Amino acid sequence: MPAAYQIIDHTYDAVVVGAGGSGLRATMGIAEAGLKTACITKVFPTRSHTVAAQGGIAASLGNNSPDHWSWHMYDTVKGSDWLGDQDAIEYMVREAPAAVYELEHAGVPFSRNDDGTIYQRPFGGHMQNMGEGPPVQRTCAAADRTGHAMLHALYQQSLKYDADFYVEYFALDLIMENGACRGVIALNMETGQIHRFRAHAVVLATGGGGRVYQSATSAHTCTGDGNGMALRAGLPLQDMEFVQFHPTGIYGAGVLITEGARGEGGYLTNSEGERFMERYAPSAKDLASRDVVSRSMAAEMREGRGVGKDKDHIFLHLDHIDPKVLAERLPGITETGKIFAGVDLTRQPLPVTPTVHYNMGGIPTNYHGEVVQLKNGDPDAIVPGLFAVGEAACVSVHGANRLGSNSLIDLVVFGRATGLRLKETLKPNTPHNPLPKGSEEMALGRLDHFRNATGGSPTARIRAEMQRTMQRHAAVFRDSELLSEGVTKIDAIYKSMEDVGIEDRSLIWNTDLVETLELDNLISQAVVTMRGAENRKESRGAHMHEDYPERDDANWMKHTIATFDGWGGKGGSCAIDYRPVHDYTLTDDAEYIKPKKRVY
Ligand code: FUM
Repeated sequence: MPAAYQIIDHTYDAVVVGAGGSGLRATMGIAEAGLKTACITKVFPTRSHTVAAQGGIAASLGNNSPDHWSWHMYDTVKGSDWLGDQDAIEYMVREAPAAVYELEHAGVPFSRNDDGTIYQRPFGGHMQNMGEGPPVQRTCAAADRTGHAMLHALYQQSLKYDADFYVEYFALDLIMENGACRGVIALNMETGQIHRFRAHAVVLATGGGGRVYQSATSAHTCTGDGNGMALRAGLPLQDMEFVQFHPTGIYGAGVLITEGARGEGGYLTNSEGERFMERYAPSAKDLASRDVVSRSMAAEMREGRGVGKDKDHIFLHLDHIDPKVLAERLPGITETGKIFAGVDLTRQPLPVTPTVHYNMGGIPTNYHGEVVQLKNGDPDAIVPGLFAVGEAACVSVHGANRLGSNSLIDLVVFGRATGLRLKETLKPNTPHNPLPKGSEEMALGRLDHFRNATGGSPTARIRAEMQRTMQRHAAVFRDSELLSEGVTKIDAIYKSMEDVGIEDRSLIWNTDLVETLELDNLISQAVVTMRGAENRKESRGAHMHEDYPERDDANWMKHTIATFDGWGGKGGSCAIDYRPVHDYTLTDDAEYIKPKKRVY
């Protein structure tokens, strides 16, 4: 181990890494179970990216139209293009109403109907009557600031439990021993001290890695650090080739405009003023699922019907909606439209374009949040001591394409499930074995390497090359040539990490160093994303492969699992294997939803 680093040791029953919606919900549940709990977060909890979620949280409350959990299950399975695990999906949709009422009681200021019930709006791909339609109003909303409202309520609630928060701590690496997770090492970014957390359970709630791409609705902090740590621990990521493009990012700025805009009656037009979604999704139209809408928009632009001088965006119209409704239900996007596009939504259309928004893939888990891997022929072998929740995880409830508003419900349902599992399986104050000798070596060796990196390639340059390459070669439409060129380029960019150089050698608020550690996390995810996409010879959900335009259930209804060997430009081989999709339900109350052609 490099000398000179001061290590401070802690011992907990459980440590949660990340304080967004899933991390806070897990922290609350674990602490409530009487377990000694820590939550480590690189940003102050209420700055976590959940704060940016806008349109709402899905649950079949049936307040604004008839609904049933089995309809929600059907839509989620169909939305996933039959790559979702149906046992986990059943669990999520059945737990969803209780999870929303729990939030209501925790103080989330949901918008209200006249009768006082929670207001619910339509969202893409959510339908009544087992997909038959019409659209269902299932998305519970706090105007268009639902994530903000949730995150603040969850943080306030979490303070009443006896959990310790380590704020502005950057998690460096997991401590693994004989295939089990024993803790985590983190850097206190303010003091430069190293903290070693020994725990019976580590919960990765570190969010997605949207910043692998150039234009994303994700915050700059969304670097998928937990995914990077999992890969370095020799664990796989699952289904990383499935990257969601949200149809309505503000053109040029990438800022999210909620799908709730279309839920409240907004619609898209091309340069001819045509409501083109009627051609692509005759029934659901602008409320088809996100992959379908994003692809339709990209097709319009490709065929020369985009708007603007470069024909590279689409118009979103809200100018026909009563300004009072906009003020009440969509105040946030009315403001962002003005700030980021200079558009008065009550009078003018907003320029939008599909923008990276969400990773359907992540660390594979079961519906208890336990990390699983393929081991000795068992596709669901549990990795002892390790959990993952939220966008970092792949449960898999979203499969190849997530429905809007199913993310917020995933966060709270599986955050809570993790607490319940730990309550069942871990006794408070269970004695700890000593940590393995050199448990800090990997984390500190890597930290020290980047801190003293003197190469000629600045972090920002390598990051920009990675982002441009991903944006060009693994976007909405993919083909064999683009993907194989993409693999060659991303491998070379990974290698260029050997030449990275930083300027700041200090340990106090060294953002140069932290951004380099984040880039190292991002780039391994970029490689497995590109490799997974190149490998999958079919089209399913968000993965549209133009040389294989059909879904191929016989050969490809299976989860990709990819491991990656290396960091800092060293090594870099990616191995791909598969896990079967769970084609069974959790209980006999639910019927297995058989694959069929997906039309909206
Ligand atoms: O469009 C939105 O409000 C985003 C919601 C989501 O990704 O679930």
